[in-house]
Amino acid sequence: MIGRLNHIAIAVKDLAAASAVYRDMLGAKVSAPVPQPEHGVTVVFIELPNTKVELLEPLGANSPIARFLEKNADGGMHHVCYEVDDIVAARDRLKAAGARVLGDGEPRIGAHGKPVLFLHPKDFCGALVELEQV
Ligand code: CO
Repeated sequence: MIGRLNHIAIAVKDLAAASAVYRDMLGAKVSAPVPQPEHGVTVVFIELPNTKVELLEPLGANSPIARFLEKNADGGMHHVCYEVDDIVAARDRLKAAGARVLGDGEPRIGAHGKPVLFLHPKDFCGALVELEQV
């Protein structure tokens, strides 16, 4: 059911410092910061030949990554995003299998302007999973 790895998201406290690590130490192609107030994050996109890495910094008072960074002071891997062809069909199949879909279970428009859902880490080997319909 799942297809390509769309991106790996890493939560960071200092986006400029994290961008410098990826740009200067790892030699990656790093975008300018993109504020996404509707998602409570500022994002830097890193293009790799086969996938993307997204660095997420909290934005605003109710950022969904604030608590994660309280527990992970150095930052850390926040979620993986897999592509699916039909997000509603994927959701229904996962719910029927007993997986927990976060929020109200309805896809919303994600950081790339496409429908996304998040799946509970406890059901997926301890890793928060994002599904994106492409
Ligand atoms: Co994501």
